[in-house]
Amino acid sequence: MKKCVVLTGAGISADSGLNTFRDAGGLWEGHKVTDVCTPEAFARNPQLVLDFYNMRRRQANEAQPNAAHQALVRLEAHYRVQIITQNVDNLHERAGSRRVLHLHGELNKVRSCADGREILDWTGDLNLNHTDGKGRQLRPHIVWFGEEVPLFAQAVEEMRDADIVMVVGTSLQVYPAASLLHFAPPQAECFLVDPKPQQAGRAVEIIAQKAKDGVPALVNELIRRASAT
Ligand code: APR
Repeated sequence: MKKCVVLTGAGISADSGLNTFRDAGGLWEGHKVTDVCTPEAFARNPQLVLDFYNMRRRQANEAQPNAAHQALVRLEAHYRVQIITQNVDNLHERAGSRRVLHLHGELNKVRSCADGREILDWTGDLNLNHTDGKGRQLRPHIVWFGEEVPLFAQAVEEMRDADIVMVVGTSLQVYPAASLLHFAPPQAECFLVDPKPQQAGRAVEIIAQKAKDGVPALVNELIRRASAT
């Protein structure tokens, strides 16, 4: 089986009703990123940051996977599919994808502020009185701006032996995620599904469509090819 690595961003979840960040004019649900998505913001006003993520978590848990998430599940019968997502929702998993790497963390997990290895599943709201077993505040298990991306090295390794790379719904503005394409082998075939595609930094076939339309069509074509060989 050939390997298909799929790099997804907020655009794939836009078709499930979740707002992207950069389409909203630089404000995310009315907030500047520096006020809610940085360690400094959490130190300054933890309740504001927790409220922001509580809202994100509620919205994500109410959203449903769309045709793009579902198509990627179908691809698994024909390719070794590895999804690398910048999204913190779990719509890929709820659609049924088996291998999903969350570069920027997950809304349904929290961790101890004092010990990053202490990670808990969490589906409700997170508040200031929620602490780990030793009385230390819990925080969202999210990679904030300015923090390291612990799974980046693993994502690079996944890219290195890709036969096909599919990029879906990301502005490719946030590093290091945006640099991942450079780690795919030169001969890997790359596709970019995005209604407003950005420069990808390497040769890509552009499919200027919404994810819910472009991804199922591309998946059908890839399945047709795999079945023909
Ligand atoms: N289908 C596909 N793509 C879409 C759709 C859609 N229906 N709607 C919008 N898009 C595209 C936009 O054209 C844009 O290129 O999705 C992209 C969204 O870009 P961003 O909002 O910048 O999201 P993303 O690239 O995932 O952001 C990366 O930045 O906000 C931080 O950490 C956060 O993981 C996030 C990272």
